[in-house]
Amino acid sequence: MQTETIWNDIYAKGPQTSSGQPGLALSQFVAPLRPGRALELGCARGDDAVWLARQGWHMTAVDVSSVALGIAARNAEAAGVADRIRFEAHDLALSFPEGSFDLVTASFLHSPQDWPRGAVLARAAQAVAPGGHILIVEHASRAPWSWSPENTRFPSAQETLTTMKLAPEEWAHRCLCPIARTATGPKGQSATVTDNVLFLQRLS
Ligand SMILES: C[S@@+](CC[C@H](N)C(=O)[O-])C[C@H]1O[C@@H](n2cnc3c(N)ncnc32)[C@H](O)[C@@H]1O
Repeated sequence: MQTETIWNDIYAKGPQTSSGQPGLALSQFVAPLRPGRALELGCARGDDAVWLARQGWHMTAVDVSSVALGIAARNAEAAGVADRIRFEAHDLALSFPEGSFDLVTASFLHSPQDWPRGAVLARAAQAVAPGGHILIVEHASRAPWSWSPENTRFPSAQETLTTMKLAPEEWAHRCLCPIARTATGPKGQSATVTDNVLFLQRLS
């Protein structure tokens, strides 16, 4: 099945509104930054993009799912920040938005099918302007309701960084660390999960 079809099915069956809440790591790591141009990869229903726009960022928000992008655009409209978010449809394995950004974020940019995630994250790093940041947040443990198999082995932050093949002299590692949080599942259930955070600053 095509990536867009997989994700459209998921979003068509799920909630049509934004949670109104940004991801925990996003809010913690981005809050101290001065707002500028930001790119979000895998924006889903727009929770993070709307929050970032409210903080003053000028957003480009990307997803493969046209259904998710429709929901996200309506949420941006309802939040009064539609003029600060440009939504773009891309299958990031095939195409990437134009431009250079002060902040690039990719939170839980996971997908059930095989795809060149390391190459996509490497391309994301190329889109960071000198002095800017990239924030990648990814699963480091499996929530009980996850679609990933029970025996899934999650890469460490360092392993993900290695797949990106960045020039070491160009990047400062501000954080390569696991963080714990309480996650809420689709039926309102909760569990403690671990995420990995890669927060890097481009030096040149
Ligand atoms: C697990 S969800 C995470 C959504 C959100 N960023 C969050 O933090 O909750 C992954 C998102 O990435 C998108 N996605 C998956 N594969 C993609 C691809 N190849 N190109 C663009 N978006 C993709 C999905 O449509 C989905 O919205």
